[in-house]
Amino acid sequence: MPAHELEILIPADRIRARVAELGAQISADYKDKPVLLVGVLTGSFVFLSDLVRHMSCPLRVQFIGTKSYEGTSTTGQVQLTKDLDSVVEGVHVLIVEDIIDTGLTLSYLKKLIQQRKPASLKVVAFLDKPSRRKVEIEGDYVGFKIEDKFVVGYGLDYNQLYRNLPDLRVVKQ
Ligand code: IMP
Repeated sequence: MPAHELEILIPADRIRARVAELGAQISADYKDKPVLLVGVLTGSFVFLSDLVRHMSCPLRVQFIGTKSYEGTSTTGQVQLTKDLDSVVEGVHVLIVEDIIDTGLTLSYLKKLIQQRKPASLKVVAFLDKPSRRKVEIEGDYVGFKIEDKFVVGYGLDYNQLYRNLPDLRVVKQ
């Protein structure tokens, strides 16, 4: 397996502090309203698992799956690989994304879930790469804005590798 040259972009302690802040902010906004966290597979699983441990409002968790990437380049097409397990009509939904890059995945998911008439629909993204946007879309809560670099770690992968790294690293091409 070829090793890639990786450089730390955001250390684990900064991630921990920011995720705690996000959890507190989201909990304050939802207060006693039960919220359904919808984690977008697979990249959001580390962020989601840390985030929920900093949230105090009543919450449930489900996952939804999409596919759009091969290696480091987007195919531009989003496909659903796993749907939600229950109806979301009248439910407060918070989509949990690893990164908003082109915005195509999020735009697809927001449309899909909005059609099902949730009570509210918001987005929390661990990362945002605004310079790569192909559609106009923003997260309601964002951990870090980053430059146009391909990053791995904290759930994000390069060909399925490096999701386990506790910090965020740039893959040197
Ligand atoms: P989109 O381009 O906003 O639709 O992003 C689709 C998905 O591509 C994200 O949810 C990530 O899983 C993946 N992705 C985008 N940029 C990166 C990156 O820098 N590293 C790892 N995965 C990425």
